[in-house]
Amino acid sequence: TSAQIGVTGLAVMGRNLARNFARNGYTVAVHNRTVSRAQALVEEFGDEGDFILAETAKEFVAALERPRRLVIMVKAGDPTDAVIQEFAPLLEPGDMIIDGGNAHFADTRRRERELRERGIHFVGTGISGGEEGALHGPSIMPGGSKESYESLGPMLEKISAKAKDGAPCVTHVGPDGAGHFVKMVHNGIEYADMQLIGEAYQLLRDVAGYSPAQIADIFRTWNTGRLDSYLIEITAEVLSHVDSATGKPFVDVVVDQAEQKGTGRWTVQIALDLGVPVSGIAEAVFARSLSGHAALRDASRGLAGPKPAALSESEAGAFADRVEQALYASKIVSYTQGFHEIAAGSEEYDWDIDLGAVSSIWRGGCIIRAAFLDRIRSAYDARPDLPSLLSDETFAQEIAQAQDDWREVIIAATRQGVAVPGFSAALAYYDALRAERLPAALTQGQRDFFGAHTYRRVDREGAFHTLWGGDRSEVPA
Ligand code: 6PG
Repeated sequence: TSAQIGVTGLAVMGRNLARNFARNGYTVAVHNRTVSRAQALVEEFGDEGDFILAETAKEFVAALERPRRLVIMVKAGDPTDAVIQEFAPLLEPGDMIIDGGNAHFADTRRRERELRERGIHFVGTGISGGEEGALHGPSIMPGGSKESYESLGPMLEKISAKAKDGAPCVTHVGPDGAGHFVKMVHNGIEYADMQLIGEAYQLLRDVAGYSPAQIADIFRTWNTGRLDSYLIEITAEVLSHVDSATGKPFVDVVVDQAEQKGTGRWTVQIALDLGVPVSGIAEAVFARSLSGHAALRDASRGLAGPKPAALSESEAGAFADRVEQALYASKIVSYTQGFHEIAAGSEEYDWDIDLGAVSSIWRGGCIIRAAFLDRIRSAYDARPDLPSLLSDETFAQEIAQAQDDWREVIIAATRQGVAVPGFSAALAYYDALRAERLPAALTQGQRDFFGAHTYRRVDREGAFHTLWGGDRSEVPA
């Protein structure tokens, strides 16, 4: 017998993905550099389906039916290149290498190009959902050739999460690096969502005076409404958890320095290159790095702040409702920014990404899965060329309805000295976009003054320069 798919790299994600394929009736070849890991998988989970244990790269490749489908689940960067170099010489034209790690899309583009020259399909694939997702159904974002998707798609559809309407959470995102690009932006949005939730929590605690357990209940309630999402759900779980060693709320015994592995940072770096304003995502990345500057924070602790004023119980309740509005409005803005980045990437690299399909496959399995994505999908389905999510009537109306509370929450945060970079950046983006005139006109004037950089006029075509050092007359540039 031969295997329909093989997985090499059997750390927790790879192992669970291999099990997922096997549980869905596929024969799975498993391989790991340290053979004992592959043996352990087969010993522990062999009864879940059909596995073929491969001890060497040669055995692994020989175990696969042709065209071969070989999933690599190793660390992004050099380890991925090393594995490709090990296996590519053993493969034949038409075979597929599926990279399910969190690779940088530029690496994926390079690898795809190199392997294409040898007739091998390289399918850079974003996989979201953590360990549980890998096992029970992740959201899957494959790039690579159309041809490879024809062969792989049905298998991925089988092992993927299913949205509430039964649709599999996988689509062929686009050629070469498109899948990993979309996964990267998914993670940027994940950072923004987490930051916004963090700000909501801090406000409920420091301004409204609620305990972590009470805030957990508030999040539980929010989770029954329009904020219904995986991240809100687990927030309630984390906040209600009590540390057994100390009896304190768990959240109070964790060091408040957030770490990151890089995908959120990439989202911002690429956005800068593409010229896309992802200010909310950027603030989320910066907030994590600020939290990690322990020495700087220690040195800053004595700095002056406002005198805190406590809210009454009824005021606190009303404030919590406002925070929900602020959180929802800010969330709309981060998704607006993330989808803008995907649209810009798609344009730049000719990927022809269907934004409606992307929102559809994020409805289940992934970390940012949320009821809200159904509405984003409807917005893009109704108008695939929607210039921005904010131009969708439903979202525009919701923000219109939320904006007073949104502003009030930021005012309260400012008055009480609670940092809300995510909420504020989102509101600033919204206000700047809807502004009749921006101070960018003044910026252009300054640039022309000190560097003769020229400007365009509102009333005439062409570029102009004012003779600032002379008689201040205007000349065509
Ligand atoms: C997912 C996640 C995952 C990511 C982790 C950690 O979609 O399953 O996005 O891919 O690696 O969330 O990210 P950080 O360590 O950067 O927070």
